[in-house]
Amino acid sequence: MRPAFDQLRVAVVTGGGHGIGRALCRRLASLAETVVVADIDGAAAATVAGEIGGVARELDVANEQQLAALVEEVERDLGAIDLFVSNAGVGFGDGESGAASRDAGMRPIEDRWAACLNVNLMAHVYAARALVPRMRSRGGGYLINVASAAGLLSQIGDAAYTASKHAAVAFAESLAITHGEEGIQVSVVCPQAVATRMIGVPDDAGSIDGGFGGNDVDGVLRPEAVAQIVVQAATAGEFLILPHPEVSTYEQRKAADRSRWIRGMQRFRKQLLQSDD
Ligand SMILES: NC(=O)c1ccc[n+]([C@@H]2O[C@H](COP(=O)([O-])OP(=O)(O)OC[C@H]3O[C@@H](n4cnc5c(N)ncnc54)[C@H](O)[C@@H]3O)[C@@H](O)[C@H]2O)c1
Repeated sequence: MRPAFDQLRVAVVTGGGHGIGRALCRRLASLAETVVVADIDGAAAATVAGEIGGVARELDVANEQQLAALVEEVERDLGAIDLFVSNAGVGFGDGESGAASRDAGMRPIEDRWAACLNVNLMAHVYAARALVPRMRSRGGGYLINVASAAGLLSQIGDAAYTASKHAAVAFAESLAITHGEEGIQVSVVCPQAVATRMIGVPDDAGSIDGGFGGNDVDGVLRPEAVAQIVVQAATAGEFLILPHPEVSTYEQRKAADRSRWIRGMQRFRKQLLQSDD
């Protein structure tokens, strides 16, 4: 039987060293016996784990072997994973040549498409591959995948991020449709702007000003607020978690008339470019 959300034994959070993941680790510390803070930034993971009495693991979620080994080791050493939060994510912005560019506009990287697809999508697949058979055999578990409002709408100025997050939402839907009746509860989190390093706001910054590409149009949330909303919504069994509720209206408008929505987004993009000048 799946344990109640406030009686979790082991919870794992990827990207737990910073931002939303760190806030989720802190929030989950009072709900789970053990929180595993997993991050490519091992020092940050260790700091968060030290603070909450959790366990740190350094790994690259884009590496399937490392993710499978994490699941194997945690289940062997600490017990069954009741909740796995696939939260680690990256975004680099379109490069000079636009939506299809290989290079990035914000942070240098050789192939931002590969990085976005591997971290933002395939890591969710790797986690599910390792965990679904285990959770199924013990009657259930929780998978929370952090995508983005960009996975429902579009992140102006980052096609690779947008495409990878759309795929992440679609994958979460497939997981829920296929494995929901086996007791595996799936939630997908789709925020707009959150004050983290991803939008240029350092951890623990006093000010939450930042934002890029207009994703801060409905306000910037602190990661702690997002963590609280995620836990509340997941406890209630919600599939789609929208920390910015406006996203639901935008999604409905998009579905009602895609051509009109594209024209609106083109105008919005123009405004953003003008305000950058
Ligand atoms: N900040 C926003 O405005 C926003 C909006 C919507 C969705 N999101 C999503 O929220 C999630 C968390 O991002 P955040 O805003 O907290 O940003 P962040 O940069 O503060 O945190 C991302 C974390 O993921 C880790 N990470 C990156 N690549 C990794 C890898 N290959 N393996 C393991 N760990 C890795 C980083 O070290 C970092 O700790 C991401 O999936 C992001 O796309 C963020």
